[in-house]
Amino acid sequence: MARLIIISNRLPFSVDHDGDQVSIRQSSGGLVSAIKSYFESDAAKNSNITEKIWMGVADFSREDFDREVVPKLDKYDFTALPIFIDKALYKDYYNGFSNSTLWPLFHYFPSVVEYHSHYFEAYSKVNSLFAETLLPILQPDDVIWIHDYQLMLLPGMLRARAPKATIGFFLHIPFPSYEIFRTLPTDWKMNLLRGLMGADLVGFHTYDYVEHFVQSVRMVLGADNSFRSIQYQNRLVKADLFPIGIDYKKFSNAGNEPEVQELRAEVQKNFEGKKIIFSVDRLDYTKGLMDRLIGFEYFLNQHPEWQERVVFMLNVVPSRDDIIAYTRRKRTIEEKVSSINGKFSSISWQPVIYRYMHLPFNELAALYQSADVALITPLRDGMNLVAKEYVASTVNQRGVLILSELAGAASELNEALLVNPTDVQDVSNAIARALAMPIPEQKQRMALMQKRLIDYDVIRWVNDFLDQLSNVKTEQNKQQTKLL
Ligand code: UDP
Ligand code: G6P
Repeated sequence: MARLIIISNRLPFSVDHDGDQVSIRQSSGGLVSAIKSYFESDAAKNSNITEKIWMGVADFSREDFDREVVPKLDKYDFTALPIFIDKALYKDYYNGFSNSTLWPLFHYFPSVVEYHSHYFEAYSKVNSLFAETLLPILQPDDVIWIHDYQLMLLPGMLRARAPKATIGFFLHIPFPSYEIFRTLPTDWKMNLLRGLMGADLVGFHTYDYVEHFVQSVRMVLGADNSFRSIQYQNRLVKADLFPIGIDYKKFSNAGNEPEVQELRAEVQKNFEGKKIIFSVDRLDYTKGLMDRLIGFEYFLNQHPEWQERVVFMLNVVPSRDDIIAYTRRKRTIEEKVSSINGKFSSISWQPVIYRYMHLPFNELAALYQSADVALITPLRDGMNLVAKEYVASTVNQRGVLILSELAGAASELNEALLVNPTDVQDVSNAIARALAMPIPEQKQRMALMQKRLIDYDVIRWVNDFLDQLSNVKTEQNKQQTKLL
């Protein structure tokens, strides 16, 4: 019996103001989708977790929290612990070190990385604010699970003050190869790794990320390891892979919802006789949106027989729009969409349908179900849940997934058409093949992928991580007893 304390930079909800109208919506991103799905599941309700607490930075005012969020929290079934942070400090921590240093570096975009010591100072300060908020309420049996690159120093900070605490950490983005990681200034990279070594268990999505992490720990901290067990300052720390899953039933059953059925019928009516290629991503340079559009344009040129017969629904979700690398991207993507539409459209057909907005769940589900092809081509992605959600949503297993080989999900979804996202010919060939794929082949591929997603869903992911965390604690205790 224990409390589970989830800690992430972002809380699962944001508060939107539109004139006098105030609404709450789910925050975007895979981390929030996964933990929220678990919290809402029967498995979580029936588990031995006595209380679920989610701690994160509030991107709303205290007044909004008290007036708008608190009355609706019952529905969420967890206690929200928002941290209110000074705007200037948050900017250097979030826009700065988290998203202009770590994010581009860990996604292999070294040319975008910014190195500023005041960013790192803000990052340390915010990580310590999380520690200061948690420590006074911490109870001996609590299980602390910290998420993602924004909080890599936090496990070490907590360990220093609560040596016996149970602390897990999960990285939702790639851990890059040592040759990339080592480009960080020595002080930063040592602190980041020392921070992670404050956890008992450090989880990653793929085998490669685990290997990269263990190698960096060896090279930078000089720690001894045997396979994925690391001895650091007389404590055992384990690194392991836990490929995140989705709430399979939520997506496969969405078609039973009347609103989803209505939306789907509307899409079918509007695009009758046309094949639909679909994608949805946050507006992020790692998602390969520009290369995707170039690939689609190349396809239209190479396969004029598909003109008038296919539409590409490109849904882009606003993200990190205070960072120049993101706003610049928006402009170039919109210019490219206009140029493709300007070049190929006819009176009765527009090849790219572009939308820049958050999609409510029912609409997302209806679009997944309507798509003949999902074109998901990130240049790098820790996992990519959208690919998995599409596979779970297909109706009668009809549909084809085209997936970048550089997404973490590619190591599990081998029956997708895997492409190199920068290779226009490869992307164009895959689109042509997907559009012409016979139905039995579509079903065969989907069935194999669906089976894997059913077997390892988000519940398994959480349970496996928490079981392994508890095993590490048992092993540590045995080691301690031997030493005495
Ligand atoms: N998503 C959402 N609203 C949208 C579009 C997407 O909540 O308008 C969700 C989507 O269902 C998925 C997550 O955001 O669960 C995106 O996760 P993914 O791993 O694909 O990418 P990330 O954004 O985490 O890089
Ligand atoms: C990725 C990251 C998450 C992040 C999400 C949305 O999934 O791994 O940590 O929450 O993107 O990004 P944002 O900056 O809006 O939280």
